[in-house]
Amino acid sequence: MRLDRFLSETTDLTRSLAKRALARGEVTVNDERESKAARHLKDDDRVAWQDVPLALVGLRHLMLHKPVGVECTARRGLYPRAVDLIELPNADRLQPVGRLDVETTGLLLLTDDGQWSHRVTSPRRRCAKVYRATLARALEGEAAEQAIQRVVDGLLLEGEDKPTQPAELKMLGPKEARLTVHEGRYHQVRRMFAALGNHVDALHRESVGELTLDASLAPGEWRTLSDEEVALF
Ligand code: URA
Repeated sequence: MRLDRFLSETTDLTRSLAKRALARGEVTVNDERESKAARHLKDDDRVAWQDVPLALVGLRHLMLHKPVGVECTARRGLYPRAVDLIELPNADRLQPVGRLDVETTGLLLLTDDGQWSHRVTSPRRRCAKVYRATLARALEGEAAEQAIQRVVDGLLLEGEDKPTQPAELKMLGPKEARLTVHEGRYHQVRRMFAALGNHVDALHRESVGELTLDASLAPGEWRTLSDEEVALF
């Protein structure tokens, strides 16, 4: 790998800023000052910038407890982005795995591993996503039984002509529901409850596949996934 590329992958420097750091004599390779951006590094070369040793990190896989008021987009917009909460070099290269609405809280996966992301989100894998919803109107008794069956049968969402795939609804209280879906349509959970004549006041994702949000993470906190967790997908 070229030295300027190595610097841009291991620090927050862009390729052109890396070239300037090289020109200023801030970079050493094997303890010798190096200024050539095009130098090809060998596997055992030791690189340091401003006397800090640098090492390539592999692909990164994280879970974030997404708080309310954070967007899952790549571009900067009205709200802070999920990647803005990740204080790692080159956090901008991380992509949310699927999306949660600005108001939705809970488990958000982020990665720079495109193939892994694809495995998690691929519709063919029918990965279960579990949401906890707080409803505006109580859903009890016979009405709850009917809603549970309609969710199994599939609901027609507004503006669509294909019903949702079988999903599971469990009422935890008159206004508290747990919904498990195996697809990822736009605003799916909110629209499913709208199709049932209700409204979601608050939505929280508890798990994706076999990965459950770490209870020790407060909203806005994140951690790296273990190798075992990455291998779940
Ligand atoms: N379904 C929704 O309606 N919103 C989300 O954020 C996720 C699933």
